[in-house]
Amino acid sequence: MKKLIAGNWKMNGTLDGAQELALAVLDAAGAGVKGCDLLVCPPFVHLETVGGILSGASVTMGAQDCAATENGAYTGDVSAVMLADIGCRAVILGHSERRQYHNESDEMIRAKVLKAHGAGLTAIVCVGETEAERKAGCERDVVASQLQGSLPDSARAGDTAIAYEPVWAIGTGKTATVEDVRVMHGFIRQMLQERFEDAKTMRILYGGSVKPDNAGALLAVENVDGALVGGASLKAGDFLAIAKAAC
Ligand code: PGA
Repeated sequence: MKKLIAGNWKMNGTLDGAQELALAVLDAAGAGVKGCDLLVCPPFVHLETVGGILSGASVTMGAQDCAATENGAYTGDVSAVMLADIGCRAVILGHSERRQYHNESDEMIRAKVLKAHGAGLTAIVCVGETEAERKAGCERDVVASQLQGSLPDSARAGDTAIAYEPVWAIGTGKTATVEDVRVMHGFIRQMLQERFEDAKTMRILYGGSVKPDNAGALLAVENVDGALVGGASLKAGDFLAIAKAAC
């Protein structure tokens, strides 16, 4: 399976900056990252511009969230159909920052996943334990219940990827050890296999302080099918170095 390297730009930058970054990613991708799939996820307001730059290119575009409802009277929300309409192919859902700052529940995330699938988008569904949960030794229970609650029964490898992102590793410079990642990704694969026929080919990405210097080791771990990259995706050179480590 080709690995997927996804850049989560979060709430960063200006329109000019987004344009520059998209052009730089495109340039570097053209220079030789054929062995993996590249996805960038800019903020909503930059999607259309970035989409125009990436149109027809091998780098695809996704969003960082979508509404759990159809179009209608939902002030401030953006629907999955709108995202697909302006060229998104994927959407990150259930990121820990949304679970934490917007109180997103597994049930709400599942509703969003269904809307994403309905619009033809790939849902990248994030799961991961906090530091306290890992210290208490319950990281597997947390991840199991997030997977159970956030994924609809209709999820398939073609429209869904999982991102395992230990909360304590996001934006902190701390990464899970290769052994922690091996154990958790193996566990997630097993959970998926109990529920989905094509679970073997459902991508499981790792996220949390992935950088050029640790990407090679993390991406070589069994059942790591790519990376969800935050901070390092804001520098085209770092993002592409991570992609190269995956190919
Ligand atoms: P980070 O973010 O790479 O900056 O740790 C990852 C993420 O939140 O997806």
